Amino acid sequence: MVMMKHHILSLPLLVMIFCSSTTILAQKTPAPAPEDAGPTDIIRILKKAGGYTTLIRLLQTTQVSTQIDSQLLNSNGGLTLFAPNDNSFSSLKPGFLNSLSDEQKNKLIQFHLLPTFVSTANFDTLSNPVRTQAGDDTFRLGLNVTSSGNQVNLTTGIVNATVGGTVYTDRQLAVYEVDKVLLPRDFFVAKPPAPAPAPEKAKASSSKKKSADNDVVAGDDDSTSAASVKQRCLISVPVAVATIIVALFSW
Ligand SMILES: *[C@@H]1O[C@H](CO)[C@@H](O)[C@H](O)[C@H]1NC(C)=O
Ligand SMILES: *[C@@H]1O[C@H](CO)[C@@H](O)[C@H](O)[C@H]1NC(C)=O
Ligand SMILES: *[C@@H]1O[C@H](CO)[C@@H](O)[C@H](O)[C@H]1NC(C)=O
Repeated sequence: MVMMKHHILSLPLLVMIFCSSTTILAQKTPAPAPEDAGPTDIIRILKKAGGYTTLIRLLQTTQVSTQIDSQLLNSNGGLTLFAPNDNSFSSLKPGFLNSLSDEQKNKLIQFHLLPTFVSTANFDTLSNPVRTQAGDDTFRLGLNVTSSGNQVNLTTGIVNATVGGTVYTDRQLAVYEVDKVLLPRDFFVAKPPAPAPAPEKAKASSSKKKSADNDVVAGDDDSTSAASVKQRCLISVPVAVATIIVALFSW
């Protein structure tokens, strides 16, 4: 009885994993941008500047590029983007970006965005910590700007960076090159205990392991639990079922 319960649990979980990876793949192929010179297009600006492949990819997968373009259309305050170039990204610890969840990737990009237009002359008017679009937590998401003459330094408590130059500016959007990826303390400092228990990840891997330990009990449950999930994720069901069959045989 206990073993069966584990198995019933494991199939939907597997299907969910397949479903979510399908979604991620789907997000990775954005629709091509129209070629007209209409409203501000952050991707086009960065492509034209060159050397921002990783940033462009992140902006697209997180869909923050779309958000930026529509913010510029719909608000008057403007935006400032600190843009780490490909060299900055390649000096991150290998695998670091991939270790981030989708939510963290989004937060990382929002952390590089100020919800106002800041001209080079105005950096010294900012008060620290500067508010980014990542959120208000001044410790976990704090970003300090210090400037003197032409030099503008940024610090997050984890990373010290320097503003290298202006990639683009109009009266609404400013894009500045920065020599480091701005990593918020949020990614490195332990989270306060979450209100909801049940760590989802640990549960998933332990039930997965248990189901591999099961041998014959499989048959009946497959069809019923697969049917209940079918509507949610048609394509993934055969894949998940195949995976389980393969797993059972190879065991
Ligand atoms: C910026 O940081 C550099 C060291 O990286 C330092 O020499 C310089 O004085 C700093 N400038 C400001 C304005 O804080
Ligand atoms: C940023 O500046 C504030 C106010 O000066 C200070 O309290 C905070 O410690 C600074 N944070 C970092 C990361 O330097
Ligand atoms: C950043 O600069 C401050 C001094 O301005 C220094 O104390 C700190 O160690 C630096 N942090 C890193 C990660 O380089």
